[in-house]
Amino acid sequence: MTASTASTAEKYRPSLHFSAQDTWVNDPNGLIYHDGLYHLYYQNNPFGNVWGNMSWGHATSPDLLSWTRHPVAIACDENEDIFSGSIVFDKENTSGFGTSESAPLIAFYTSAYKPGNARHGIQAQSVAYSLDGGYSWSKHSGNPVIDRNSPEFRDPKVFRYSSAETSYWVMVTVEAQDHQVVLYKSENLLDWQYLSTFGPANATSGVWECPDLFELPVDGGANGSKWVLVVNLNPGGPNNGSAGQYFVGQFDGTTFTSESTVTEGRSDNERLNDYQWLDWGRDYYAAVSFGDVPDGRRLMISWMNNWEYANQIPTSPWRSPMSLAREVTLQTIDGAPRLVQKPAFDPKNELGSTQNFGLDSVQLDDEVRVLDQAGGAVQRIELSVTPGTANEVGLVVRGGQAEGTRIGVNVEQSALFVDRRNSGESDFHESFASLDKAPILPLNGSYELTIFVDHCSVEIFAQGGSVTITDLIFPSPESIDLSLYATGGSAQFSNVDVVRFY
Ligand code: FRU
Repeated sequence: MTASTASTAEKYRPSLHFSAQDTWVNDPNGLIYHDGLYHLYYQNNPFGNVWGNMSWGHATSPDLLSWTRHPVAIACDENEDIFSGSIVFDKENTSGFGTSESAPLIAFYTSAYKPGNARHGIQAQSVAYSLDGGYSWSKHSGNPVIDRNSPEFRDPKVFRYSSAETSYWVMVTVEAQDHQVVLYKSENLLDWQYLSTFGPANATSGVWECPDLFELPVDGGANGSKWVLVVNLNPGGPNNGSAGQYFVGQFDGTTFTSESTVTEGRSDNERLNDYQWLDWGRDYYAAVSFGDVPDGRRLMISWMNNWEYANQIPTSPWRSPMSLAREVTLQTIDGAPRLVQKPAFDPKNELGSTQNFGLDSVQLDDEVRVLDQAGGAVQRIELSVTPGTANEVGLVVRGGQAEGTRIGVNVEQSALFVDRRNSGESDFHESFASLDKAPILPLNGSYELTIFVDHCSVEIFAQGGSVTITDLIFPSPESIDLSLYATGGSAQFSNVDVVRFY
């Protein structure tokens, strides 16, 4: 769909991102590559486009760009809502739900018991299994498999842990209000034994939700490997509301030990800038990674929304897109291993109809330059900018007569920013119109930006993906101008490359 053909009701429907046909979506769940397809399950209200009736929706994709929607995979009933969780392929049939010919997929979800159930108010971990590759699911008759009698115990992420000596399943969950990650182990995916607890640590001004734990090589393996513990936080993110933080450290099969906890120094609020964030924008939440991806790549998807205004965003009949899928790696930055992210696909290869606009170099002196021919509603923009005397440099995307989203670097503040205060529709919630910032430093005097623009979002990967900002925007379909600008002095833009999709 292009901007000019978008119907009024569908004007924000994304082209590069997953969205449900006409219902509500929140967290990605059960991400797994299986039988040649990426499976995306997600928190879904099958009966409406606001949060409620939590069930697992389902979609598949061969390339992480084009998605096929499937019927609801695991539905809520009168007893329980089906909250977030994960899926593993039980290759050796350790659970016994499969047969020797056909190994099962096993889903772990949080049973959030409803008023009709004697356990109302409690959250516990439950199991469902699929014998047809993830399309139909049966609940385990012995549910729940872990019950701590807790009202805030949720979001199980299960993976296979293997060392030279041993191998077993590990479940990572949260006690959300306690700011704690709780780990369990199992041989058969049904009987679970407590391992350890991590937290509170770093950002704790909201509940901890949707954890993930995985090992990654550092610098491509040149410097060993480390473990990454992802903890989503709501509210309390660096630019308010929902956000994802991560810790880097060691996991010995029992205990996660963080090497990136900030224990001293500045005030709580200032320390937000010292913590590690998956993304500094306002719309990158509940990020979790896929299991079983070929070549061992670690790919993540997040819900592209924020609980502050999630139920009010002006999309219709659907509500809430997913982010682009991102590949994450660990690279040494300023002496410490940090996550670096890039889109998990090359849109040049994966998208048929594209149009390129290349520009070697533009010098701007306290001015705005509209790039004729380079406008578009759905784009990838790459550029490098070297500020000379300018104190702010950047671009305006989805620009129109009275609106535009500014993306740039405030040189004096060492801040990358997205300014969506004048990006389009924003009056649906008082806190939507925002200026979101992330700390950034020049590399050899320059800033490198890769930006994906879609009908209702911008995703910025800066300095090779070591800093990212993801924000929703709701511009008019006619607002497709792209311009570059420098304020307060001169700046040199180079390697400007724009790909327009469709
Ligand atoms: C995160 C979350 C999870 C929970 C789910 C319910 O956005 O609150 O903790 O499982 O959403 O929909």
